[in-house]
Amino acid sequence: MKLLSGLRTAMNFVTPKQYSVSNQSHFIINTKTINQLVKFFPPLSGTEKVLDFGCGTGETTLAMAEGRFGELGNPGRVIGVDISQDMIEYCKSKYNLDKLEFLQLDTETNQTKIFCNQYRGTFDLVTSFNCLHWVTNQPDTVSFFNSILKKNGLFIFLVVSSQSLKNNPHRSTFEEMKKEAGRVIISSK
Ligand SMILES: C[S@@+](CC[C@H](N)C(=O)[O-])C[C@H]1O[C@@H](n2cnc3c(N)ncnc32)[C@H](O)[C@@H]1O
Repeated sequence: MKLLSGLRTAMNFVTPKQYSVSNQSHFIINTKTINQLVKFFPPLSGTEKVLDFGCGTGETTLAMAEGRFGELGNPGRVIGVDISQDMIEYCKSKYNLDKLEFLQLDTETNQTKIFCNQYRGTFDLVTSFNCLHWVTNQPDTVSFFNSILKKNGLFIFLVVSSQSLKNNPHRSTFEEMKKEAGRVIISSK
């Protein structure tokens, strides 16, 4: 299923520098979201591998790697990926931490297959904040997360949108996805 394909490049008009200025409000809602997860699952203990999908200018990804992302705890390794080479170059030029890596990744290309071959079943947690509504093929992207997650691995995402099933196609897609997931926690706050 393809959604909103016209939006595929819609974020290209925002440069990493411009986005980083307004990113603080995203960081606040991202932190609130991750704190919801920690209500149900234990915090990370220093060994876990995390993928942050659609990392943008990387403030959230960095905080995660530094163990100061809400109550999430300390991961062992964090990889931030984004479709935009500009965002990835911005992150690489700005953040330098052994456990943190940034990669450009377009899930509609062969890159996904290569990434899966390298990382199949190895991630403990996939996060995606303020990104999935930009993704044109959401079911394939979620299948990609499923391939790289360990058994019982966790996927948490945030999209700011209407809760209306009638008016919001993302919301109805989410209802379909819920049927396939093992355990789903929803927060609409
Ligand atoms: C609004 S920003 C969010 C950045 C960051 N996650 C945050 O919450 O601050 C959305 C990001 O998603 C990226 N993006 C859009 N479509 C994508 C895709 N198909 N695959 C990976 N990243 C994508 C954009 O390039 C952009 O950097």
